[in-house]
Amino acid sequence: MRGMGCGSVSEAYVSPKSSPYFAFNIWSIESAKAVLDGSAKAGRDVILQTSMKAFLRLDKEELRRFVTSYMHKKQIRAYLHLDHCKDPDQIKEAISHGWDSVMIDASHKPLEENIAMTNLVCRMAEGTGILVEAEIGQIFKAGDDIHNAETGIARIEDIKTFVKNTRAHILAAAVGTSHGLYKGLPKIHYDLIEEIAAFTNIPLAIHGGTGLTDEMFLKLLSHENVKKINISTDVKMAFRQGIMESLQKGSMSEGGFDPMKVEEAIHDFLEEMAVNKLRLLRKDGNHEDNSCSEYGYEKYPEHYL
Ligand code: 13P
Repeated sequence: MRGMGCGSVSEAYVSPKSSPYFAFNIWSIESAKAVLDGSAKAGRDVILQTSMKAFLRLDKEELRRFVTSYMHKKQIRAYLHLDHCKDPDQIKEAISHGWDSVMIDASHKPLEENIAMTNLVCRMAEGTGILVEAEIGQIFKAGDDIHNAETGIARIEDIKTFVKNTRAHILAAAVGTSHGLYKGLPKIHYDLIEEIAAFTNIPLAIHGGTGLTDEMFLKLLSHENVKKINISTDVKMAFRQGIMESLQKGSMSEGGFDPMKVEEAIHDFLEEMAVNKLRLLRKDGNHEDNSCSEYGYEKYPEHYL
């Protein structure tokens, strides 16, 4: 089923030379369309990811079909990724429905069990070309206390053991970011990102992108091993903004309710949010350009050590 997308993921977003990607969480055809429109407008390829909640509720075949046909129409590449999955059976589902990459999140388990679970999923994905993202350390929800994130920071020794003993393709190491809305700015451990780069070229996924400043994004993106930055809450906030604006403009009033206007407002906020992030992906001397489907990425190495 792999290849229902466009090109091979392994040749695209994890090539050591390829540009980094933003990965936006979507939950419906409409939200996927809005992000893809943003991707086409910004002239950047993109990753669409489904949380487990969205994955369980979506018509997977329909979403896969839509993303494939719409990205061809818009002349962009888009990849479908399963975000934070703890259940290998659901990963099997994602693989069989043509998702391009999957995340096994066993970070709540002791290191050895995290390694074993990650390897189980890597074996499931073997030969399919589907990439496996795994988590080390723990990326928490941004709560009232911004310093919560500090407790989950991945330890460099654990990362070394993890990378040495698994065949994961992408690593979501907890480096100080959290999911959700921050109260204040998080302390990102850029030094840890560098320490990781010093011993492996495994691509890193940075979770908890909502609420980071443009300067923080640019600093993250200046690290060559940062290949994927996840944005979820901002997508939902853009959706909310569309509804709020519709309320203010009267298109939700009982007499003047106009569903198409409401949907358009939501679409436009989502699209704009995606464009604003994607425009941060400037072409950099060390990266291949991932702007709208340049082909010819180098194949990623078999193993990153
Ligand atoms: P945010 O909701 O903070 O953007 O985090 C997204 C994420 O990391 C999804 O895995």
